Amino acid sequence: MNVGVLGTGHYLPKKIVTNKDLEKVVDTNDEWIRTRTGIEERRIADDDVNTSDMAYNAAKNALEEADVKAEEIDLILVATVTPDTPFPSVSCMLQDKLGASNAAAMDISAACTGFMYGMITAKQFIETKAYKKVLVIGSEKLSKITNWEDRGTCVLLGDGAGAAVLGEVSEGRGILSFELGANGAGGKELYQNEDNHLVMNGREVYKFAVRQMPESTVNVVEKIGLSKEDVDYLVPHQANIRIMDAARERLGISEDKMAKTIKKYGNNSAASIPMALSESVKDGKIKDDDLIVLVGFGGGLTWGAVAMRW
Ligand code: ACO
Repeated sequence: MNVGVLGTGHYLPKKIVTNKDLEKVVDTNDEWIRTRTGIEERRIADDDVNTSDMAYNAAKNALEEADVKAEEIDLILVATVTPDTPFPSVSCMLQDKLGASNAAAMDISAACTGFMYGMITAKQFIETKAYKKVLVIGSEKLSKITNWEDRGTCVLLGDGAGAAVLGEVSEGRGILSFELGANGAGGKELYQNEDNHLVMNGREVYKFAVRQMPESTVNVVEKIGLSKEDVDYLVPHQANIRIMDAARERLGISEDKMAKTIKKYGNNSAASIPMALSESVKDGKIKDDDLIVLVGFGGGLTWGAVAMRW
């Protein structure tokens, strides 16, 4: 059985915070942020909008695109490091908000790689015929764990949500291969501290990402007997344009063949990949039969990649 994406969705808070706005908050400047990261602005959710609210909007969008009713969903998986509360889970809150009364629900914690872990978990349940339709979401309100006094991290992060409905697709399509990984010894490079703030050793994470993203991308493509030249479109985790470009250049694919939401939305952790996927689908950048690779890395340390025939 082939498992693939039946529909995608995303949601972004309305409030835009530009690099110029951040100049008033920390000792930074637009030029530094743009040249070092590729970020120009990001969205920040209002106080009364939480991770589950953003997840709800992205999920509605994905269900509509897939033409699937909430009651048809068998399992909800929400990847997040910023849940409304540790429990009940965001997925349980979402199950209620959506009226997805037939769905089991659980959250997945794999930081920025969470959506990849979610997709592959969904694939197992569908392949074994336990479930038919699984809703996978990445939703993050990173602004609530951002240290607004740390210029090394606060300029990078933004809020948002992305979603996908997974189910059976026709022969030859959908997820063709995947790779998931973790290195717990690297946990100290990126974590949440006792003040509930995100702490990052930027240089170490950068080195890890620049090596891992291209490697995982090549691995999933080679697993299906293809080569990097066969990749039509790349959806990388949106952490830093320099990391993304390194992966793209190693694959030898042109700029227009890579999803690039970082400029407008910054780094949205687990939400980055599904948001970028959904936006690329809606913008017509992903076409039928394209070979696409989704690839991410993040805290844990974790990483993951998926090769899909659209
Ligand atoms: N504005 C101005 N100057 C700054 C800023 C800022 N916002 N932040 C750091 N600097 C300064 C530093 O203090 C340093 O000054 P110094 O040389 O006087 O000490 C100088 O700029 C260079 O700092 P570096 O940390 O070496 O800058 P670098 O080129 O490594 O860029 C960055 C930093 C953008 C964080 C980079 O390391 C990076 O992208 N790392 C990976 C981040 C990442 O991928 N995170 C993903 C996981 S996080 C998540 O997804 C939720």
